[in-house]
Order: sequence, then C-alpha cells, then structure tokens
Amino acid sequence: MNTEKIFKDILMMLSDVYQNEGSKNGSLTAEALSLAGNQTFNLKENEDDELSKLFNSFISNDDHLLALQLKEISNFLPWHHSDMGGRIEGDLKKQFIQFVLLGPSGIINSNDYEVGIFMQMANIDYPVRRHPAEETFFIISGKGYFNKDSNPEIYGEVGDYVHNPSMINHSNRTEEHHMIWSWRWSGDISEDSYIKNK
Ligand SMILES: [Fe+2]
Repeated sequence: MNTEKIFKDILMMLSDVYQNEGSKNGSLTAEALSLAGNQTFNLKENEDDELSKLFNSFISNDDHLLALQLKEISNFLPWHHSDMGGRIEGDLKKQFIQFVLLGPSGIINSNDYEVGIFMQMANIDYPVRRHPAEETFFIISGKGYFNKDSNPEIYGEVGDYVHNPSMINHSNRTEEHHMIWSWRWSGDISEDSYIKNK
C-alpha cells in the first residue's frame, strides 16, 4: 500500500467533488486541493489507532469511493474529537470525529479555505449553529437530516451536497445510521466567530 499515492488520490477526488458543486467558492477550493497534490507528504502512522478503527468500522461497499480510500489510510490521518474551540460540549463531542485536510490547522496549510472529513454517530442531534464561513457538505457514508433556518428538513445520503450560506442557522441529525461527510469552508474561516445557539 502506498499511503502517499492514496492520499493524493483523495485530494483529487475531493477536488472533483467541489469542482462539480458548481459554485465559485467550490471551484476555488477544488483548485487549492488540486495544487496541494503537487506537494510531498510524509504522513505519520498514529500511535493510537482507536479513532481510525472506529471510522473504518462504519465503512461499507455502499459508500462513496472517497470513504473507501480514506479507510485504506485511516491510521495515517489526524482524527480527533472536535469541540470547535469549546463550543461543543463534553458528551456530545464524543459523538463526532474529524480531521482537517486543508486549512489553518490542516495537514495542508491554507488561510483561505478549509476542507475536512467529519463523522457523526447514529441517533445524534448536532445542534443549531451559524458562522461567517459559507459551507458545503458532501456526504460520503451513511445518511441523515439537515435543517436550515425555518426551511423544511432535507434528507441526505451518499453523493448529496448540502450548502449552508454564511451566517444561516443550521443543524443536522442522524437516526439509526451514522453519517460521514466532507465539508468545505470559504470566506471568513476563523472559528472565533462561530456561534452556537441555545
Ligand atoms: Fe456549519
């Protein structure tokens, strides 16, 4: 297995995903991912494989090829429980794992765009939040439900895009299935202005 080759394939697949989104920020993000493919990466294997094993346990052949490729190199990716700078509380935080691929804290540095992979366990409500960055999710495994402001709830499954404009209130929830998506952020990507609504 060539970890770097698979990692670069993942970058190209994500670049295609956001190119196909059909928006200016999607195309710019796609370009940043594609350019990053020219770099050399020395991904280090994690000492603790707990989170990569957890991720891998949810991947099946029904999933997007991206999910299958991520599984191949999962133990070389910096998975963690995100709390969004303290904005996601203790017990809930354990229901999410993620890593940042591109961004200020990403494997690939960028101050303009953020791209990462996020997994939400089954039967979890990820409460309402809003942020200046505009955001697009692309679902690669499982299924779930999305809310934006007072619009009717949207069902999402593998291959679907969900776009959240800047500062829109949004939330999502899972039922009996987990859900894994890639996200991209453009615009003001700082977490400082991320707002959690009670
Ligand atoms: Fe968001």
